[in-house]
Amino acid sequence: MSNDDNRPVNGPDGTPEPYSDETGAQSHVPARTPADPIADPGLPPHTWRPTDVDPKAEKRAERQIAAMFIAAMISAVLFVVAYFSFSVGDNWDTFLGLGASTVSLGVTLGVSLLLIGTGIIHLARKLMADAEMVEMRHPAASPPEDREATVAALNAGLDEAGIGRRPLVRNTMIGAVGVLGLPAVVLLRDLAPGDALDIDKLAHTLWKPGMRLVRDVVGTPILASEIEVGDLINAAPEAMFPSEENGYPELEGAEEQSEKAKGAIIIVRMDPDELTPATQPDKWTVDGIICYSKICTHVGCPISLYERTTHHVLCPCHQSTFDLADGAKVVFGPAARPLPQLPIKVDEEGYLVAQSDFTEPIGASFWEREKL
Ligand code: FES
Repeated sequence: MSNDDNRPVNGPDGTPEPYSDETGAQSHVPARTPADPIADPGLPPHTWRPTDVDPKAEKRAERQIAAMFIAAMISAVLFVVAYFSFSVGDNWDTFLGLGASTVSLGVTLGVSLLLIGTGIIHLARKLMADAEMVEMRHPAASPPEDREATVAALNAGLDEAGIGRRPLVRNTMIGAVGVLGLPAVVLLRDLAPGDALDIDKLAHTLWKPGMRLVRDVVGTPILASEIEVGDLINAAPEAMFPSEENGYPELEGAEEQSEKAKGAIIIVRMDPDELTPATQPDKWTVDGIICYSKICTHVGCPISLYERTTHHVLCPCHQSTFDLADGAKVVFGPAARPLPQLPIKVDEEGYLVAQSDFTEPIGASFWEREKL
């Protein structure tokens, strides 16, 4: 007697024998064998290469490959010859302003390596067997007996150590190992500058009321009238260029670098009608001239790539994109908040000056920001 799937029955009531899986375990539920969602298309028909069917072509390929290897050997020998023939420092202007030694060593070694690589590729494509090789995947798990043996060894070890019978020792040991992680966490603090936890420093920059906006690098003040619609100017606080006239104190070392990074800005000019209320056009801009921090609010790269027609500026690090006409809101990318805007106006001479410091912290959105 047998049932529908031809398993033998083991009783007069027709109960079928249990299913067995590949490990020998028995069950009355068949092992699940999910159907392959994509049918195996099989291999395409084999196409013989000329070198497989034509002995002359095979010999020709052999000769070509051998010629490449021989030429590689010659080139390598020439490298040695060049090494001893040209002394570094002599013949310095021999070839395109480079020394004969540099050129000859580079060319001979490069050609030798190139020919060896090309010869090997040629060998693989023309002469090596091109039959499709298939290696079936096999289960990555250890066999059940290995797993059982491992668990048994572990349990035996625990029994011998008596950990299970001594909860006091077990718990204190777990606590000791866990608390050992604390020193590692505390040491992370050393990765930051010594005063990094002074979050107030992150909230303020050199900008203050009346400070002129000056061109980056050269430090010249910027007349509002000299900026054209579509321009983008990299600028800095005038205090980064101290002089007797402006009276700003000299900054040095880490402080100078830090203030330079925090105070960096971009100035753009666009049609005032294109500015949205988010830019505070009546309060913080001058005839369509608008100023933002140059430091990306993602992790602090300097933004730079400006697309004049869309008013978008792109951070090159992770492609955060900000719409400068709309309060520098994030239109794409991982940055979580707009670029801070610097309120500006013109002084009596027509130069652009800050109305105040930034009204929010610049740069990456550090976790303590909300406390400021
Ligand atoms: S730092 Fe600008 S997108 Fe990451």
